[in-house]
Amino acid sequence: MVPLKRRKLLSTQTGNNGNSGTDVIGVKAPVKFPDVVIFLLERKMGASRRAFLSQLAAKNGFHVQETFSGMVTHVVSEGNSGAEVGSWLDSQTDGSAHRPVHLLDMSWFTQSMKAGRPIDITDTHRLQVDESEVEVFSVPSFACQRRTTLENHNTVLTDALSLLAEMAELSAEEGRGVAFRRACAVLKCLNEPVTAMSQLRGLPCLGEHSLRVIQDILENGASSEAESTKCSERFKALKLLTGVFGVGCKTADRWIREGILSLQQLTDSAHSLNRAQQAGVDHYDDLNQPVTKAEADSISVIVEKALVTVLPGATMTLIGGFRRGKQTGHDVDFLITHPEEGAEVGLMPRVVSWLQSKGFLLYQKTTRNSYLEAKDGPARPASNMDRFERCFSIFKLDKQGPGLQSHTQRATDGEGSHFGDAVDSVCEPENGQIKQWRAVRVDLVVSPISQFPFALLGWTGSKLFERELRRWAGHEKSMSLSSHALYDSTQRTYLRATSEEEIFTHLGLEFIPPSERNA
Ligand code: CTP
Ligand code: MN
Ligand code: MN
Repeated sequence: MVPLKRRKLLSTQTGNNGNSGTDVIGVKAPVKFPDVVIFLLERKMGASRRAFLSQLAAKNGFHVQETFSGMVTHVVSEGNSGAEVGSWLDSQTDGSAHRPVHLLDMSWFTQSMKAGRPIDITDTHRLQVDESEVEVFSVPSFACQRRTTLENHNTVLTDALSLLAEMAELSAEEGRGVAFRRACAVLKCLNEPVTAMSQLRGLPCLGEHSLRVIQDILENGASSEAESTKCSERFKALKLLTGVFGVGCKTADRWIREGILSLQQLTDSAHSLNRAQQAGVDHYDDLNQPVTKAEADSISVIVEKALVTVLPGATMTLIGGFRRGKQTGHDVDFLITHPEEGAEVGLMPRVVSWLQSKGFLLYQKTTRNSYLEAKDGPARPASNMDRFERCFSIFKLDKQGPGLQSHTQRATDGEGSHFGDAVDSVCEPENGQIKQWRAVRVDLVVSPISQFPFALLGWTGSKLFERELRRWAGHEKSMSLSSHALYDSTQRTYLRATSEEEIFTHLGLEFIPPSERNA
């Protein structure tokens, strides 16, 4: 396209004093629609028609700005292409300022005048911008090819899409959940806020539904679907019930169909809860309170002490969200190993016994390592991540513990007594008022040193990043990746690695450090 001449398009561009939006050509009227600030582009429209339209709008209570500024929300032009107006706009703002929300055709203006109010904008009002002219975003399609830090420039969009993903997951609609998660991950890695749908052309993973949600937000400031989902009784009940440790979406759905919508109704019902669920109810408030990095560090100290005692030389690494640099999480995850292959066998029960003997555990369930390369190897799907010796636990963390003294008591302390305090009573403080400890979910995983890099990569997350790594391995490389191993189906061989970096190299991917795996 031939660039527009950067000529002074408007007589009013120079030497103007227009700081009142409505003082256009002498007309003064109260502004009725303060959220709409119109700018009429003189180019092709001509000065006299522009003056006439400005007066008309001002009389109808519209705010028309004579001079272009960052206040403008609606640019209206006549007979110009989207590219022309876009280019003109760049000349006004050095291309740096973000564009007004709407670049519109005269049809929007005339219809709004007729209606006596700013009418809803539809695609027919919007100037069509030639794809080659828009500043479009471009990102690779697999999340494991992208660097996604915790800095998110599109939180309004990603919050809405995450919520819809969550609702899909809570409804056991995995495919829909993944689709929303993928769309969300694409927006998370953009280095700027999205301001126009046209910028999204060519981006991967944005399905029709996600695009509809994004458009709704760009036009109306919020997604009506996300808002109504958030307020729905079903979503609230599913969230509440699956917030109980040990309760999945299937169980929650069954209870809801029986009319159980609250914890009170659950405890009042005759349902017998399993051990995990009972612990989940007992510690509901604590477990739904985010775990801080300071608390995670405090638990590290305890686990470290356990290891030094039961198997000197064993090491542990903080994994999960905290390894990715998150400041809070829903739990704390540790990966334990020993530099000597085989020395880790039988380690978990000893760690657990030690923790139990010191009163650090409110709940634990250990599963044995069931991974055997010979048996589970290539035939097993790579998605099986559950075969390490691992312990799901609930720690009892002293709030006055190392590094936590300065932390003030939480508002919810001491609550939840109506759920019964079977374990709590053991160390109820003298005053009976303030609980000196809190319950924290902790995951412990033990890996033999030979599998350590795979376990480290597989347990660092994010969940979507892991999913995408496995999809990449399968689709693009004919390989099968798990938290235990990487198998090359073409060469019919396992690819060994002593570091995460080597695994990325095997996969033909650039190394992405943990802090950039927040997809
Ligand atoms: N994971 C796994 N197998 C499971 C559960 C989790 O391999 N059965 C992995 C996930 O893929 C993730 C990591 O363990 O990479 C941590 O999971 P989780 O604690 O659920 O998520 P975080 O990313 O740590 O998020 P949060 O901070 O909320 O805990
Ligand atoms: Mn975690
Ligand atoms: Mn976890």
